[in-house]
Amino acid sequence: MSEITGIAEVTGVNGKVVAITGASSGIGEATARLLAERGAAVVLGARRAERLEKLAGAIRERGGRAAVLAADVTRAADLERLVELAVSEFGRLDVLVGNAGISRIGPVADLDVDGWSSMIDVNLRGVLNGIAAALPVFRRQGRGHLVTTVSTSGLKIVPTQAVYAATKNAVRTLLEALRQESTDGVLRTTAVSPGFVRTELVDSIDHPEVREEARRRMDEFGIDPEAVARTIAFAIEQPDDVEIGEIVIRPTVQG
Ligand SMILES: NC(=O)c1ccc[n+]([C@@H]2O[C@H](COP(=O)([O-])OP(=O)(O)OC[C@H]3O[C@@H](n4cnc5c(N)ncnc54)[C@H](OP(=O)(O)O)[C@@H]3O)[C@@H](O)[C@H]2O)c1
Repeated sequence: MSEITGIAEVTGVNGKVVAITGASSGIGEATARLLAERGAAVVLGARRAERLEKLAGAIRERGGRAAVLAADVTRAADLERLVELAVSEFGRLDVLVGNAGISRIGPVADLDVDGWSSMIDVNLRGVLNGIAAALPVFRRQGRGHLVTTVSTSGLKIVPTQAVYAATKNAVRTLLEALRQESTDGVLRTTAVSPGFVRTELVDSIDHPEVREEARRRMDEFGIDPEAVARTIAFAIEQPDDVEIGEIVIRPTVQG
């Protein structure tokens, strides 16, 4: 296979260095594949390193550029290492996609304190750790873009998703404040809110009935993770003076 097969010349994505957390499956994996196809160098972080290696191998086979790090977003040092890897391997970091997330959903009355803590640690603290690692590099470069995957769960509040939605809305709030603090043109922020997307996310739900219901809806009308990847690419490919702040993307039939 030719070295450059599959690498399109797309202004705005081509040549950018993009680190992605939660790149081992679902939306993160689809985003890594799409951005690499469009000429970005991708730096892949998640805990399942063997999956990342396989993905990076597939990207390289198609002429793309990829680096891999086993990283747990709940550990600030892992995010620092991910950002350092982008800089050491590819010279800089243009975009951090803070996408890692878990969905330990269930009724509040179940008092799943461990699940609540895990969601806060991964979904909120994980994004904060990414911001702490990436911002100094963005400031040094004079340019950078933070993209996060939040959720329609935070827009239409429904039973069983209280804490999950709260973590996603905390991130939404965080990004809006950061945006207002960063109007000097250096930083762009984007919060992408997907509805039901067919991924492995439901596997992290402990509550059997809630898990089966989520799985049923995902199978019935969940959209392909690549649709979210295209949305993320859309935000990234805009000219530097254009910031896509929030995007909602859901199945057409989702209520
Ligand atoms: N699917 C949907 O319907 C939907 C809707 C709205 C929002 N979202 C959001 O989209 C994002 C991606 O989820 P997905 O749907 O693509 O689900 P997924 O297939 O389960 O992917 C989740 C990713 O997060 C990673 N992850 C989990 N805990 C981590 C940790 N402590 N450190 C590092 N990585 C961690 C997982 O990798 P490892 O296990 O290898 O670490 C995996 O790569 C999440 O933030 C989710 O909340 C999804």
